[in-house]
Amino acid sequence: MEFFSRRNGSLYAEDVALSELARAVGTPCYVYSLAALRTQLGAWREGFGDHPHLVCYSVKANSNLAVLRALANEGAGFDVVSGGELARVLAAGGQASSVVFSGVGKQAWEIRAALDAGILMFNVESPAELELINQLALEMGTTAPVSLRVNPDVDPQTHPYIATGLADSKFGVAADQCVEHYHRAAELKGIEVLGADCHVGSQLVSSSPIEEAATRMASLLDRLESAGIPIGYIDMGGGLGVTYQDESPPGPDEWVATLLRVFEGRGLTIVVEPGRSIAANAGVLLTTVLFHKGNHEKNFVVVDAGMNDLARPSLYSAHHDVEAVEDCDGTITADVVGPICESGDFFAKERLVANVQAGGLLAIMSAGAYGFVMASNYNTRPRPAEVLVNGDSWDLVRERETVESLFAGEAIPGHLSGE
Ligand code: LLP
Repeated sequence: MEFFSRRNGSLYAEDVALSELARAVGTPCYVYSLAALRTQLGAWREGFGDHPHLVCYSVKANSNLAVLRALANEGAGFDVVSGGELARVLAAGGQASSVVFSGVGKQAWEIRAALDAGILMFNVESPAELELINQLALEMGTTAPVSLRVNPDVDPQTHPYIATGLADSKFGVAADQCVEHYHRAAELKGIEVLGADCHVGSQLVSSSPIEEAATRMASLLDRLESAGIPIGYIDMGGGLGVTYQDESPPGPDEWVATLLRVFEGRGLTIVVEPGRSIAANAGVLLTTVLFHKGNHEKNFVVVDAGMNDLARPSLYSAHHDVEAVEDCDGTITADVVGPICESGDFFAKERLVANVQAGGLLAIMSAGAYGFVMASNYNTRPRPAEVLVNGDSWDLVRERETVESLFAGEAIPGHLSGE
């Protein structure tokens, strides 16, 4: 996390002290570094050199409008999985013509919105979806550009919840049935076949699963070519992992070099959909220590952020470093836990952490991807504020929710309230 550093005992995001941000906007609060986002996107783009490509940032990782705009300004396209994400991209000033739309359960309104906006292509996940897109495109008097998402049946060696390219997963169509589906797509008047797509899984810490998947996709392209179905785009999805603790994943340059090698000489535009590798280490979650407590077994550091703010440790047993924002004396072995009424509400277990006392600040590191976007209002807790740091200045890019807003859409029927 090179854009988060310690200076004279204080943790900074670029040139802004995190303690200053906590004072100004309160905690819990997500803080993102603009330079980190730009640098990571740049590494992907530079990896391709002059080769035709599109880096479609995966909006699901962090969909704050300011983040999307920052990446759009640097030439990113976008990978969306819902009408909501598409609306965000458009609201942020992203170009529809560089949007790919993935997901197994696209609804009619979402498909219509994407056709209306003029996206680059749909990553189609089933024959039934293909028929629906065709029908809607014909009704709208247009044609829908598509890729078929192929299940590459590759083991990504990652957490089972985020492995998507195995044969038994719900994603994509089986590779051996693919040519048949492409034939059907080519027949449909409302469909234009543009590409082929796959995604192996997330938090991959070596290039070998992507190399294996790319090799399988290359042989599929050969079969499609023999069948007279030319393909111009190959979308290899996202999945490049990051360092949360001691992982050493390849850089985007190595990942891209692998793709360039496998697809060399085919005249394809290569699409990638990185999310985590752009955003994870561009963000932290700031939280205040509320209390220390202990029982016969262990120590607890109770903080004001909970599993509703950052779900990854509870959901995947994911590791996030926990750092003191201001240097303090001593360490303590403790569980760092939130205020939610569940034992699964923790950020660290039996971890040696800085002995920050009540009122002091902790930073939960590597929280820029799959952090805020997975936050919920469980326990009627307002979701955190979000801040974007740019050098020595910063902006509030999302206000903290208010408690009132959380039940503003609810109503008590008259027969219950005696009206
Ligand atoms: N493309 C597709 C089709 C995907 O399903 C995903 C992630 C991506 C791209 C972006 O993958 P990335 O580059 O971020 O690895 N909530 C989980 C991660 C879920 C990933 C789902 N799909 C977590 O917090 O680890």
